[in-house]
Amino acid sequence: MLSRRLESIKSFLKKNDKVVDVGCDHGYLSIEVFENKLCQSVIATDINESALDRAKKNIREKNLPIRTILTDGLKNISTKDYDTVVISGMGTNTILHILDNEEKIKSVKKIILQSNNNRVKLREELNKLGFYLTDENIVYENKKYYITMLYIKSNEKNTKEEIKYGIIKKEHFAYYNYVITSYENIISKLPLKRFKERHALKKSIKELKKLMKKELKK
Ligand SMILES: C[S@@+](CC[C@H](N)C(=O)[O-])C[C@H]1O[C@@H](n2cnc3c(N)ncnc32)[C@H](O)[C@@H]1O
Repeated sequence: MLSRRLESIKSFLKKNDKVVDVGCDHGYLSIEVFENKLCQSVIATDINESALDRAKKNIREKNLPIRTILTDGLKNISTKDYDTVVISGMGTNTILHILDNEEKIKSVKKIILQSNNNRVKLREELNKLGFYLTDENIVYENKKYYITMLYIKSNEKNTKEEIKYGIIKKEHFAYYNYVITSYENIISKLPLKRFKERHALKKSIKELKKLMKKELKK
């Protein structure tokens, strides 16, 4: 079974997409996408030979005709073979390095990103590259929050608020817990002379967290 983190990428894929899974590592996402016919085609790529070997082994075991390519980002992939780029499990700088290739992203209509840091910078830069943030989801797994972003090709720009806070829909329960944790961090930075205030706030946060934990288990 796919991890919750990788599962959350699937909802952004459509039947007609020609997907390139950049930095596929084990290849689990590509395999899942292919086996369930979630899109028209999928190519699994990685910069690291042993990572790609892992993907090849997993693909071979299932006897699937998924193409694998050893390459840095989109470099050795023909633009006619993809219109949707998925990059997950990397940091913002690596993601931006991969997308810093005008020629290779010209024909891209959709980008799905899951960065593990600096999402504000990522949202800013994607607008500059001509991609508009249209959806985001959030999941909680192994004590971490994972936000997946869906971009479509457009010259439209996201608002300052959208860039800063994202556009996660409020029905994602993990979102509330994410917000609570952010508040908790702010509260812990209150000066010591506001100890009483800090203590009271911490107590309320603790109650809220308990409640959210129950909800997340549902
Ligand atoms: C932590 S793994 C994530 C694997 C998978 N995408 C996931 O979300 O589970 C990151 C993978 O990205 C690959 N990678 C890093 N930089 C890359 C680049 N410039 N081009 C292609 N792959 C890259 C690494 O070799 C590694 O296999």
